[in-house]
Amino acid sequence: MLSKAIKEHIQAPRNMGIMEGADGAAEVVGPACGDQVNLYLKVEGGRISDLRYTTHGCWVAVALCSFLSERARGMSLEEALALDGEEIARQEAGLAEDKWPCAVLAVRALHQAIADYGARCQDRPD
Ligand code: FES
Repeated sequence: MLSKAIKEHIQAPRNMGIMEGADGAAEVVGPACGDQVNLYLKVEGGRISDLRYTTHGCWVAVALCSFLSERARGMSLEEALALDGEEIARQEAGLAEDKWPCAVLAVRALHQAIADYGARCQDRPD
């Protein structure tokens, strides 16, 4: 059964949009449906200070991106990398198993955006 929290994100998605000057960004595509999630991060002091997204995915992808945009804010990068998309889909969102492939796109995008942030930091001159 859908959780109260996820129902609120279905009804009123938050933090949707493109972020200019993101510190990290990622684009992931659902392997089965081909829908895409673009996710953008701001990082301050090793913590996620802002997270935005756009998606052409279904209501599940939108709701999970919205949920994650609030859940991940303030987390250290290590904490965010420890997030498990299927666990969030099952335990925090209450989604049926057939919706998990859509739900995990948001966390996959977050993890790739953190990797992009790490790569950009390495490329910066000291
Ligand atoms: Fe593509 Fe859900 S069907 S994200």
